Amino acid sequence: MSTTIGVISLKGGVGKTTTVANLGTVLANDFNQRVLLIDANFSAPNLALHFGVVKPEATIFDVLIDKISMNRAIIKHDAGFDYIAGSLINEKTDFDIFQLRKKIDLIKRNYDVILIDTSPTSSNEMLIAMVASDELLVVTTPDYPTLSCTMKAVKMAKKKKTPIIGLILNKIRGKKFELTTEDIEDIAETPVLAILPDDISVLEALSITTPATLYAPDKEVCIEYKKLAAALIGREFKDPRIWFRMKQLFNVAVKGKAEKHEVNREILKEER
Ligand SMILES: Nc1ncnc2c1ncn2[C@@H]1O[C@H](COP(=O)(O)OP(=O)(O)O)[C@@H](O)[C@H]1O
Ligand SMILES: [Mg+2]
Repeated sequence: MSTTIGVISLKGGVGKTTTVANLGTVLANDFNQRVLLIDANFSAPNLALHFGVVKPEATIFDVLIDKISMNRAIIKHDAGFDYIAGSLINEKTDFDIFQLRKKIDLIKRNYDVILIDTSPTSSNEMLIAMVASDELLVVTTPDYPTLSCTMKAVKMAKKKKTPIIGLILNKIRGKKFELTTEDIEDIAETPVLAILPDDISVLEALSITTPATLYAPDKEVCIEYKKLAAALIGREFKDPRIWFRMKQLFNVAVKGKAEKHEVNREILKEER
């Protein structure tokens, strides 16, 4: 069964597009999944830019206005996934909010996982993506303004009855002033599934339009993407770093449990 996962936040610049690009890369490249990424951010459509495509020949907008079929809009990436680029929409364009879902239903059986990149607005744009998603991942950073937006996104998803799988904490610097995982989980009432460090490799990778998980696959941020991808499809990913496994053993021996996001991923994996 194919799953459509929307990657949302009500704030720009937190890492939605980066997450879609990298989860897509590892799901296809490391876990052999059939993956489709869709850029449904109609205000700042830049998923294709992450892959070096400046002017895509066809976009999801052309599909939504019935100009072309889904299959004709699909672009193949060397990492093994397919994607459909986005484009700005004419303000006067008024879509049926079920339109994206209907289009996805036509090609859903061709994929194991479909990831939707979304717009950080609480307008119809976000609704279209939410309605098209079976589940949602919410990206947040460890500061109050972003957390406040995250809570709004969680509330909106609950109202629309689209289940939230969990939160992705991005751009973590490990500083004392940052909100802790526990604070964020308590306030948002949603489990944290990945803790992604702020890493310059992500920016370096973007500058050469290559997903970070291909450019620097052994970095912590990329290993976290692999662990999250594995949990999303109920698979195992063994951390190749010996020191990490030692740290995990230490946590279990001394603190009596593994780190929170590791535990949450285990629970998710079992549910899948
Ligand atoms: N973990 C990270 N470490 C460093 N930079 C990051 C990280 N995640 C994202 N970025 C950078 O932050 C910027 C915004 O990310 P993006 O994915 O475009 O956010 P959004 O789609 O939510 O607007 C980009 O320049 C991206 O390369
Ligand atoms: Mg984006």
